[in-house]
Order: sequence, then structure tokens, then C-alpha cells
Amino acid sequence: MSGELTDKVAIVTGGASGIGKGCVERFVDAGAKVVIADVNAEAGEKVAATLGAHAAFKETDVADAGSVTDAVAFAVERFGGLHCMFNNAGISGNRNDHLLDEDFSDFQRVMAINVLGVAYGTQAAARHMKEHGGGSIINTTSIGGMQASRGPWTYAMSKTSVNMLSQSAAIDLGEFGIRVNCIAPANIESPILGNMIGSGLSEEAKSKMMDEVRAFLISRQPIQRQGTTDDIAEAAIFFASDRSTYMTGQIMCVDGGMLTGNPQPAGGFQEIVARYRQQ
Ligand SMILES: NC(=O)c1ccc[n+]([C@@H]2O[C@H](COP(=O)([O-])OP(=O)(O)OC[C@H]3O[C@@H](n4cnc5c(N)ncnc54)[C@H](O)[C@@H]3O)[C@@H](O)[C@H]2O)c1
Repeated sequence: MSGELTDKVAIVTGGASGIGKGCVERFVDAGAKVVIADVNAEAGEKVAATLGAHAAFKETDVADAGSVTDAVAFAVERFGGLHCMFNNAGISGNRNDHLLDEDFSDFQRVMAINVLGVAYGTQAAARHMKEHGGGSIINTTSIGGMQASRGPWTYAMSKTSVNMLSQSAAIDLGEFGIRVNCIAPANIESPILGNMIGSGLSEEAKSKMMDEVRAFLISRQPIQRQGTTDDIAEAAIFFASDRSTYMTGQIMCVDGGMLTGNPQPAGGFQEIVARYRQQ
């Protein structure tokens, strides 16, 4: 819906790639002025260059509180305010199927980016918004932080923390007209999953493996397709816009229904029932 974010200024962290990049493009299309805040300067500058005067890149490390504060100041100076802070940057960290094999060597880094980064972004944006009539803070979590599973141990812990942080912040900041909501994606087109499980593989092997992994994930979703960055942008525009001014502390899953349940027939269960019914 074009024009929905006219007169709004937003920061999108992690806006140089994947979900963030897709949302930056859609925010600009909806009329917003957007700061792309990312550690990857080359990719971030490139995205900004394609979007004209309504987008600007600001090199930002979300794990550094000062850097995040600078990004907020940059948005205010460049575009005259800040109405939406989309704390989206995140990394997957390592994956070890078994807890007994996990060494937690990436724990500090994953937590610093995925949790502290969101906390810094929420705080820095809220400090500005409190003095300027409120605003909308959107934090990217994951269904990986809502449904227990084996594998990405630290990542799962980090995303659960994002949920609790966001809901606590929603309670704390509501009186200032600041809303804090989460988007929980799953199986969205972006390099993050391939980077986590494909390190050390050739490009060809990685691409083949990812085709299989995607097909497996899709088979476990009620809506049987891979998600797109546009699917996430729809939710993000809703939370950034005035259509959601009565919503705070919510976690919106944009996951093809994956968290709700697996549509695969429960093979073993049904076989037992069928065997007895035939007798
Ligand atoms: N793609 C999915 O299916 C999926 C599913 C669930 C959750 N997520 C979450 O969505 C968010 C975006 O992921 P994506 O899939 O677009 O991945 P991505 O790897 O394409 O994008 C992540 C971006 O974050 C940036 N970034 C990393 N560390 C940073 C730092 N310290 N400071 C600033 N920027 C930093 C990267 O440079 C990159 O541009 C993440 O929080 C991720 O956990 C993604």
C-alpha cells in the first residue's frame, strides 16, 4: 500500500541484506525516509544508492551502544526525526545438533548482536521517541526462540531473550506512546540459513543442500512455499504505520504456519489406528 509511511522516518538495522534490505525497499516505496544501519558498509551503500534521496546508509555495529546512538542521531539530523526503529540485524551463530558437542565459542558474539543490539536499539530509539510524541519499535525475533529444538543453542536463547526484552519494554514504554512489537519469521529467502549450515561446503554442494533443506522446511509448513522478504515487509509496514497504534507487546509470526503445527500426516500414529480398524 504505497504512501502508508509518508512523513515517517525509520531506521532498519541489518538493512544491507535479506529481510532488512527487502524491508528498506518496501518502506521507501511506502513513503518513508529510511536509514540503513549495518556493519556491512559496501552492501549497505549499494542498497542506499539504488533508492535515491529517501534512503541513507550509516555504518553501525548494533553490538556497540555508542554506534547505535550515533545511528539514531544520524536519522534525526538527516531526515528530521525517528518514528520507527526496526531492530532487525542478527546472526545465526554455530549449529551443533547435540548439546554435548557444543562449545559456546560464539555465545558472546551472538548475544551481543541479537540481544544487546536489540536492547541498545530499543533504548536509543525510545530516548528520542519519548521526547517526540512516541513511535514504533519493531524487533526481529524467530520462531526458533518460541519452539524448542536441538541445534542452534545460542541463537534460540538469544531470540527468546528478544521476546522477553520486547514485551518488557512494551510495558515500560507504553506511557510515552512507544509501541514495541516483534516479528518472528521462518524460512524466509536470505543467506542466513545457508551461511549457518553450509560453511565449509563448495558453492555447488551448498546450493544443492539448501534446495533439499528448503523443500524439507516447506513440507512442514501449512502454507507450502518459502517466505519472501515481502511477507516480512507487510508485517513491518503494519507495525510501523498508524494502523497498529493499539498494539504493543505482540509477537507476529510470519512463518507459513510453521509454529502452529506440522501438516504432515502423523505416519506412525495413523498406521497404528489403520491397522486396528482393518482388523
Ligand atoms: N531468514 C529467515 O528465515 C529468518 C528466520 C528467523 C529469524 N530471522 C532473523 O531475521 C533477521 C535478519 O536476518 P536475514 O535472514 O535477513 O539475514 P542476513 O544475513 O541476510 O542479514 C543480516 C544483516 O545483519 C547485518 N549485521 C550482522 N551483524 C551486525 C551488527 N553487529 N551490526 C549491524 N548489522 C549487522 C548483516 O551485515 C546483514 O546485512 C535476523 O535477526 C535473523 O535472526 C531470519
